Amino acid sequence: MSPASPSRSVRLGIIGTGGILDRFLPGAALSTPIEVVAIASRDPDRARAAAAARGIPRAHGSYDDLLADAAVDAVYICLPNSMHHDWTMRSLEAGKHVLCEKPYTTDPAEVDAAHDLADASGLVLTEGFMWRHGPHALRFVEELPRVGELRTIRSTFTFRLESEADIRLGAELAGGSLMDVGTYCVSASRLLAGREPVAAIGIAWPAPSGVDDRFSGVLDFGDGLAATLTSGFRSQHSSIEAIGSDGSLRLDDPFAGRATRLVGSDGFAVDVPRVNPYQLELDDFAAAIGGEGPPRLGRADMLGQARALRALYESAATGRLVRL
Ligand SMILES: NC(=O)c1ccc[n+]([C@@H]2O[C@H](COP(=O)([O-])OP(=O)(O)OC[C@H]3O[C@@H](n4cnc5c(N)ncnc54)[C@H](OP(=O)(O)O)[C@@H]3O)[C@@H](O)[C@H]2O)c1
Repeated sequence: MSPASPSRSVRLGIIGTGGILDRFLPGAALSTPIEVVAIASRDPDRARAAAAARGIPRAHGSYDDLLADAAVDAVYICLPNSMHHDWTMRSLEAGKHVLCEKPYTTDPAEVDAAHDLADASGLVLTEGFMWRHGPHALRFVEELPRVGELRTIRSTFTFRLESEADIRLGAELAGGSLMDVGTYCVSASRLLAGREPVAAIGIAWPAPSGVDDRFSGVLDFGDGLAATLTSGFRSQHSSIEAIGSDGSLRLDDPFAGRATRLVGSDGFAVDVPRVNPYQLELDDFAAAIGGEGPPRLGRADMLGQARALRALYESAATGRLVRL
């Protein structure tokens, strides 16, 4: 890799021009090793407009053109969910490191195929669960022993969808509330449980397009530990609670980098400083590219996510408990 500037050592290309960039780019600007050098759209005019509006030097009128750009070391894929795996494979084949938005997939075989290719090519692949890099997630895990023997993890992530034309309602784009925001609840449940679920039950309430407008599920982690989760597009709430033999621990608004205070039922409360989670995600990605160690979210984590999501959807579709 030939760095574009001494301090910005990873030249990043962005694939997609959507709403996430309003949140992602301020974080990228704060990440010292990251230099955003190019953006690609399916439409050349949209690529030029996005590059001009966001101060990105080069615009590519197709995703393939960006992958052929030798001055791009790594890509950030922020496309609809159905396109994540395909464009990750194409990016790895083009020799680019990949940070792909969540959820990567519901198919564990796709996770393995992508990581096999990344490993064989000496490239880094990670999934964009930026909240996992934030100090609140790390502190929650540290403080978890306060609750005693962990029995229940309860998490909810819902928001009011503004447009019925949103990609999140597109069946062919792998939309759905569990895919979009419930996937954070799955991530939180797995993180706090410290292990993978052994069974799943799900109920989906469909939107007219067929995707789940709302989803509720239970993940059984064995040894009496269960996680309940709810996602949806018609209300506004986000929280995680861990409930144990000695009390509980709660974090409001944990997933979007806005959380402030971790609160315990025993009177414990701590204000954890906010740090831009996209910056931390990119710092972690760049460190892995620089050979400092694996990314925080590698193959094992991505497999755990895919397996749990698939089991929840399978249960909702069949009305049966699904063993993992
Ligand atoms: N981690 C987070 O905080 C976070 C937050 C929001 C979203 N996300 C994830 O980021 C991804 C994109 O979300 P978004 O909110 O940015 O979506 P969006 O605003 O709808 O943008 C999606 C982009 O994908 C491209 N695209 C390619 N094929 C498309 C198709 N058939 N239909 C629609 N768009 C298509 C479009 O760019 P061009 O047409 O210009 O190529 C479009 O701008 C999703 O996977 C989502 O889960 C993550």
